[in-house]
Amino acid sequence: MLIKRSPNGIDLPFPSEITPQAVFESRRDFIRKMALGSIAGGSLFEMASRQAFAQNPASQKLAAATNPAYALIEKKTAYKDATTYNNFYEFGTDKADPAVTAHSLKPRPWTVSIEGEVKKPMTLDLDSLMKLAALEERIYRLRCVEGWSMVIPWVGYSLSNLIKKVEPTGNARYIEFITLDDKKQMPGLRSPVLEWPYVEGLRLDEANHPLALLTFGMYGEVLPNQNGAPVRMVLPWKYGFKSAKSIVKIRFVKDQPRTAWNIAAPSEYGFYSNVNPEVDHPRWSQASERRIGEDGFLARKRKTLMFNGYSEVASLYAGMDLKKFY
Ligand code: MTE
Repeated sequence: MLIKRSPNGIDLPFPSEITPQAVFESRRDFIRKMALGSIAGGSLFEMASRQAFAQNPASQKLAAATNPAYALIEKKTAYKDATTYNNFYEFGTDKADPAVTAHSLKPRPWTVSIEGEVKKPMTLDLDSLMKLAALEERIYRLRCVEGWSMVIPWVGYSLSNLIKKVEPTGNARYIEFITLDDKKQMPGLRSPVLEWPYVEGLRLDEANHPLALLTFGMYGEVLPNQNGAPVRMVLPWKYGFKSAKSIVKIRFVKDQPRTAWNIAAPSEYGFYSNVNPEVDHPRWSQASERRIGEDGFLARKRKTLMFNGYSEVASLYAGMDLKKFY
């Protein structure tokens, strides 16, 4: 996660929206700042061919009826933009890297183990997990902390279906999402840019909110590798980094889990990470955003909405100081 501000405080276009070289420079700067070690030569994958995309060779259909409660009347982001502008650090830190390198991920066979503070721990293969509840298409906004957003038709079901099935014990207050950690499949794991595996967490009531989507597909097809195949979370009221990709473990725990970005830069990325235009990131404003594929960097940015417009989650945070719990 990068970005910069001009000396006079005015937001500059994101480096990634100008030239790949600028992205590369900015990322190096960011990595230096975090003192997390250097990546020799910048992007791990800058030499990789930009022609080859990691789309699933034969894209598999995963059709589901759109749930009218979540059918945003906004222009959908083009599939090509949503699948070639990705954050998935296990496949490189450049937005273009995952589409080029994620072909090495094997989304099948795949199992997800559900464990910890539950009465019925289980390990499910992908088909059993997908069949646990009816799949729905939901058109959600996803806003990244870097200040860009997309509108994507996701396919999945509310995570609450799974939570109910495993019967959390009275000790379960949080859920930890642990993602794949396999150097053979994920070349980016050789870089110390984050602590691996990538881990995210939610409070149990957040995870139980109907909007929290356990996601298997997008645009009527199974998830492309670069978007988190074969199973990921999508939490439309939180910054994109809360939506863990390629999940292998869902652990119910008593204490607030550590999370990848919070470990990397605690003063910049809090546990809650709700989209909140009133809380600036320490290095840039969060008041506005650019819609990928629509708003050029010279266009006026869109106003960011509290909870990304999903005001139905507000009651989860009643009484909390959302400036303190960012
Ligand atoms: N999950 C894993 N395992 N690794 C990552 O690097 N990046 C996060 C999130 N989930 C990430 C991850 C970030 S920063 C964002 S913005 C979203 O995935 C991006 O999802 P998208 O590429 O489908 O837009």
